[in-house]
Amino acid sequence: MRERLEALCGEGLAAIAAAESRAQLAEIESSFLGRTGALTAQLKGLGKLEAAERPAIGKLANEIKQKLQQAFDAVGETLKQEELAADLASVGVDCSLPGPTVELGSVHPVMAIARELEDIFQSMGFVIWDGPELESEANNFDALNIPSDHPARESHDTIWMKSADEEPRRCLRTHTSPVQVRALREFGAPLRVIAPGRVFRQEAQDATHEHTFHQMEGLVVGKNIGVPHMLHAMNSMLEGVFKRKLETRLRPGFFPFVEPGFELDARCPFCKGGCKVCKGSTWIELMPGGLVHPNVLTAAGVDPNEYSGFAFGLGLSRMAMLRYGIHDIRYMCSGDLRFLKQFKA
Ligand code: PHE
Repeated sequence: MRERLEALCGEGLAAIAAAESRAQLAEIESSFLGRTGALTAQLKGLGKLEAAERPAIGKLANEIKQKLQQAFDAVGETLKQEELAADLASVGVDCSLPGPTVELGSVHPVMAIARELEDIFQSMGFVIWDGPELESEANNFDALNIPSDHPARESHDTIWMKSADEEPRRCLRTHTSPVQVRALREFGAPLRVIAPGRVFRQEAQDATHEHTFHQMEGLVVGKNIGVPHMLHAMNSMLEGVFKRKLETRLRPGFFPFVEPGFELDARCPFCKGGCKVCKGSTWIELMPGGLVHPNVLTAAGVDPNEYSGFAFGLGLSRMAMLRYGIHDIRYMCSGDLRFLKQFKA
């Protein structure tokens, strides 16, 4: 019986190797391992063997069965792949051709700096809030203490919606400051919020002025909030961006929605004794800010006798320019891929 089994194994393996299709392979499989197969018949005959012979022959028979089964499986898989490839080839599909390449975009420098700042401010407990680019006149100006006869409106000349009698009148927002009012109305005080977004101005364009650019508004309202809190937040933010402490100074600055108002300058992070970026002065003007004007708190439904706060307006486009050494703001919204591709994340 041993010889018969070994012969069957040899025959089986040879037949499997010679199979040309899966159908043929299935026939061979059933002729060996099927219910009436040759090997099955041998296995059935084991019972008639002498008790002493049975274990050794039984083990051999099982090993051969396993070996054949493995060979069937392996050859079956190869034939399957071949048949699939032949099928695809017959309908004109070449699986070896590379697929269409999906071009990966890159993160816009303004988005990259915005995300970085969002992380920094979130770690200081700020929430991120959004406002519409098409804003009501009331939110963009009046609620920010800029009444219609205020000269500050001139520096914020912008694009108005056409219908003259539309109420409320709407314009493309000239700054992210209206989100101060929106966020306060939504959440009330106390509040820590940043609002990144796109803003629009009537500008004569040049390397540092663009009609469309990005800002990030910051607002903190709470009890007894003052200038030291503002300075601390600004300095922490700068340390986060430039990865070291920068010397800063405050100069007075006028904005109707803050009192007192400031401009924050930082020691130029790019030089020691003056360079192109700081125009030789060693200081760069970074962002305006100040303590929220009581009229703004009132307009937003917050009692100025109970709460105070600070706000700042960070130029995201300007930050990105400083960070990446971009010398012309007009690249930012140009959509020029040659420019954008340099910022692969
Ligand atoms: N909104 C002001 C601007 O765009 C900047 C600013 C924000 C100033 C917050 C003070 C406080 O010019």
